[in-house]
Amino acid sequence: MIGFIGTGLMGFPMAQRLLSAGYPLMVYNRTRAKAEPLQAEGAVLAETPGEVFSRCDIIFLMLTDGPAVKEVLSSIPRVQFSGKMIVQMGTILPEESLEFARTIEDAGGEYLEAPVLGSTPEASSGRLIVLVGGSREQYQQMLPYLRLFGPEPFFLGEIGKAATTKLALNQLIVTLITAFSISLGMVQAGGGDVELFMRILRQSALYAPMFDKKLERMLNRDFRRPNFPVKHLLKDVRLIIKAAQHVGISTEVLQSIQDILQQAVDAGWQDLDYSAIFQVLARGERL
Ligand SMILES: NC(=O)c1ccc[n+]([C@@H]2O[C@H](COP(=O)([O-])OP(=O)(O)OC[C@H]3O[C@@H](n4cnc5c(N)ncnc54)[C@H](OP(=O)(O)O)[C@@H]3O)[C@@H](O)[C@H]2O)c1
Repeated sequence: MIGFIGTGLMGFPMAQRLLSAGYPLMVYNRTRAKAEPLQAEGAVLAETPGEVFSRCDIIFLMLTDGPAVKEVLSSIPRVQFSGKMIVQMGTILPEESLEFARTIEDAGGEYLEAPVLGSTPEASSGRLIVLVGGSREQYQQMLPYLRLFGPEPFFLGEIGKAATTKLALNQLIVTLITAFSISLGMVQAGGGDVELFMRILRQSALYAPMFDKKLERMLNRDFRRPNFPVKHLLKDVRLIIKAAQHVGISTEVLQSIQDILQQAVDAGWQDLDYSAIFQVLARGERL
């Protein structure tokens, strides 16, 4: 049986992908209610992470952050790691990933990091970009499962490489949404024609598809039903700052964006879509 721990925004549709491919699946979520609907699709519900480790040989983890992964792994007697393949798919620091690999391998288990790019629509349709760190043999071995999440999982090299690449890519999410918010805010506040601005932008080398994905939410100032909430982007900015500092990359811009995201959290918008950063940068009447 396959195990899946963490059926939140991303984990839930990913667990569904494993079920619809016909794999017997045991799921665990700290808040039980979020995993319960998977029972109707054939999943076995575990009461504890330990139950998943005692019944499954391959275990996927899709948890908030490194401390959450640590808490779950710490609840498992180390002997239970022996012979297991643990695939960590959340966005965490490369150092955290290396620490988990050491703990699990020292206990006779295997560890693969496989963070993903893309959001809940891509998780549901199996179009995530999966970034894999570990050995090439482990990558090959896990490909049939990882292909359910994304058609072309990339092999990045040893543990830590995929975690670093994921943070480098998320750095672009953070700075692009900030840059787009400022430009859109300037056009709107200056009484400009937003559709004309977008037509020009789409024809230019400055365009990123993310702009159109977020435009409607931003124009309506309706950031409910998040794919990726403000609180997780703030978590990622903190990780990106740490990872950048570790290798001597300037973090001044990122620290300002961290402050801006913190303002969004302080305003109570932590569970809204991350494009709510627009509301901090270019204040509107409605939210
Ligand atoms: N959402 C996206 O668009 C997206 C895209 C790419 C990558 N990611 C990354 O994927 C990971 C999951 O994101 P998500 O959006 O699915 O987040 P989410 O909806 O908040 O889910 C987080 C999951 O972690 C569990 N969890 C948190 N702390 C825990 C703990 N101490 N012990 C046990 N379980 C714990 C939560 O359980 P409860 O339900 O009990 O809280 C929930 O199942 C994050 O690292 C995120 O950065 C997200």
